[in-house]
Amino acid sequence: MKLFNQGLPGRSAITYAGLLEKIEILRSTLRWASHLNRAEIEKLLRQSTALRDDVMQLSHLERFVKAASGDGEATPALPSEPTLAPPGERRRALRERSFIFEGTFGDNPKLLEALEVAEKAAPTDLPVLIDGESGTGKELMAKVIHANGARADKPFISVNCGAIPDNLLESELFGHKKGAFTGASNDRKGKFESAHKGTIFLDEIGELPLAGQVKLLRVLEAHEIQRVGSDETMIVDARIVAATNKDLRRLSQEGRFREDLFYRLCVIHVTLPALRERKDEIPLLFAFFGDEAAEILKRRPVKMTPRLRDFLLNYAYPGNIRELRNLIYRISCLAGDTADLVHLPNNIRPAARTANDVAIAGANGSAHALLSPNSLSDAKRAASDEAERLFLQHGLNEVGGTVAELARRCDMNRSHLQMLLKKHGIHSKDFRKQHVPVEEKRVQ
Ligand SMILES: Nc1ncnc2c1ncn2[C@@H]1O[C@H](COP(=O)(O)OP(=O)(O)OP(=O)(O)O)[C@@H](O)[C@H]1O
Ligand SMILES: [Mg+2]
Repeated sequence: MKLFNQGLPGRSAITYAGLLEKIEILRSTLRWASHLNRAEIEKLLRQSTALRDDVMQLSHLERFVKAASGDGEATPALPSEPTLAPPGERRRALRERSFIFEGTFGDNPKLLEALEVAEKAAPTDLPVLIDGESGTGKELMAKVIHANGARADKPFISVNCGAIPDNLLESELFGHKKGAFTGASNDRKGKFESAHKGTIFLDEIGELPLAGQVKLLRVLEAHEIQRVGSDETMIVDARIVAATNKDLRRLSQEGRFREDLFYRLCVIHVTLPALRERKDEIPLLFAFFGDEAAEILKRRPVKMTPRLRDFLLNYAYPGNIRELRNLIYRISCLAGDTADLVHLPNNIRPAARTANDVAIAGANGSAHALLSPNSLSDAKRAASDEAERLFLQHGLNEVGGTVAELARRCDMNRSHLQMLLKKHGIHSKDFRKQHVPVEEKRVQ
């Protein structure tokens, strides 16, 4: 059989005539096909999905043009991209419109765009689909939408669709009646009922099994639920916000997510940027989370050694903002005044390898060979740090771990010396043990 193979017209060149032609080809393919195999059906489905997307885009553009022309009579040329205000101004404007950020931090244009969409979507009851990598703030964005809407004082119920065993899914979402199944010892409300008048946040919606998807679709269509084991139907009025770190459109094309459910959920679609797309904001995020951690831990905001800062500025953050935030909290908790590489978790700490290697290499006079700096100044700084560390270790060894004695011998201020030891994560007591007499060791 013959299926049309050329792609749909480019986005800018979509025309009604072009679309009609494609629709006619699809129609005649279906009319004359004696039978279709699975691959052909899937191809036709993909083509009709693409057509629908283009029809929607065309209609959107048309509405946009009408709105721009005022009366909708004339059809002027399509408007060029609207010019956006600078990020600071966009954030300020949101604040002036009493937008509730719920602690969302950042001026990245993609993040601001998401916040602006959230602002418009919040007062409506339209379903919102939020996507983005893990830790990009999807749940936070769902809370922003809830907080800025008319349901703000009603419940916000979060459901992790990926964490519910298949056999408990229906009861978890819709509740059950006493005796509905073994273990159902009481009547129980489901999440939808709990979210009545408020918002239900369906997290990791891409993990929902197909059977669960069918049930969810029914609720979206009819706004009613039935507790497991009950004949009664109940009306529920819950605003749906769903989130995923998967590409739902692709999953639906692959038949792993119901296409009709996808279109119902993503009436408004918000995509959150990964941290690597907003690298310029990392220093601001250090300060933001550093202050936050300081307040919680009742301490002064932690400082960072240059090499830790360099590392954290260039790190890939696969866990995005959550990972950055956790790292700042960790170093704020573990470090004294200034944090260093030694305060990072083992699995990402480059210095766990570098420090040892450098110590060995230092003895061989080839420390520089083990460093892989990005620039000459990095190399100088790393070499100077290592020299300082080796000097302190050697000195403490000489004086049996007595900091006051080392400070005296080096003619250094003792508190400055303490600060340097802290910076390198060196503990003077580690050098004392080596000098414990054999007899004493036995007694301990
Ligand atoms: N823009 C932001 N400003 C401030 N904090 C943020 C921002 N984005 C995320 N966070 C914080 O990062 C952490 C992770 O955010 P959240 O749980 O919303 O991410 P997620 O996308 O739902 O992650 P996952 O996919 O792993 O569930 C939270 O502590 C949240 O407060
Ligand atoms: Mg989440």
